[in-house]
Amino acid sequence: MMKTRVLKASLASTRECVQLLQKGYPVALPTETVYGLAANGLDESALRKIFEVKGRPLIDPLILHFKSLTHVKEHAQDNHLLSKLGKLFWPGPLTLIVAKKTSIPDLATAGMKSVAVRVPSNTVFRSILETIDFPLAAPSANPFGYISPTTAEHVLSTLGNRIHLILDDGPTNYGVESTILDIRNPLKPTILRHGPILIEDLERCLGVTILDPKTDGDNQFENQVAPGQLKQHYSPHTALSLLPYGTWKRGINLKLSAGPEKIALVYTRKPKVICDQTYWLSEVGNMDEIARNLFSTLHKLDAMKLDKVYIELPSKNGFGAAINDRLQRAAAKSMQ
Ligand code: TXA
Ligand code: MG
Repeated sequence: MMKTRVLKASLASTRECVQLLQKGYPVALPTETVYGLAANGLDESALRKIFEVKGRPLIDPLILHFKSLTHVKEHAQDNHLLSKLGKLFWPGPLTLIVAKKTSIPDLATAGMKSVAVRVPSNTVFRSILETIDFPLAAPSANPFGYISPTTAEHVLSTLGNRIHLILDDGPTNYGVESTILDIRNPLKPTILRHGPILIEDLERCLGVTILDPKTDGDNQFENQVAPGQLKQHYSPHTALSLLPYGTWKRGINLKLSAGPEKIALVYTRKPKVICDQTYWLSEVGNMDEIARNLFSTLHKLDAMKLDKVYIELPSKNGFGAAINDRLQRAAAKSMQ
């Protein structure tokens, strides 16, 4: 057990963080998507600590975070999509799967020949990358399978006493994890995780159709299931029941779940009928706001130890695809 300190991001706390990273310790850092559990991406023993702290199986590869596209190319094989997408979308919430070079330890990639890379845009994270001379491996800073953290408090409540330091930069901007695009075969870019960078934006920029293994049945995975693609993930402890998009208009009949059960109802926008324990992710159904509030609402409700949480799915358009995906996985345990 160690005492975990939460420090507001500042010059002094950033410096302290860099020292811990240089010594091979993992620390929790803000990114523009969710908080990450960062450690030296080129150091086997530092990488091992990430897996230990999260309780993450070693078969689940990590994302490496770099300060620039040039630095990415030092450790990953170039291809024309890497340069093109890197120039267009980095720094930002896009992760690319490319062939790795030998400088990246097998532990980071679960023994695969490919590596997940991105250049994050959060200024605190970037200032740390500017100071060190190695990339940072950083999965979301939550215990394996649980809801991702969008505030320093979320990290503290789940990983407290397992890490030395959490840098607090307030709530994250996007609230869900980066979009993951597999570009190992530049002729067949494939979406592996929906996120803030939309498939339609990627298609417009590339001028090609992007494959979706879920709908195209073209899964190019080398050998294993990547847990971000696991059916159950992002799960709160409380049972979660999904309501179809549009439920906010009429509400649900609470009598259905009358009795001793303690429940909460979460709508994507402020509903017409408001009862006890009614929540909404955005006043007017703004998708960015829904995404930003999603995980923090799930964290808050989970701490209330209710019997069941009903949550309305947003439309599947645009950023809604990512939110639908996270909610389907979060509810998978309850629906088994
Ligand atoms: O927004 C984000 O991407 C956040 C922040 C901290 O950067 N990170 C994040 O990492 O979400 P993590 O580890 O929670 O999710 C990374 C996902 C996992 O599902 C992993 O299986 C997949 O990326 N992944 C990593 N390397 C891969 C590879 N070589 N091929 C396919 N999937 C890979
Ligand atoms: Mg994660």
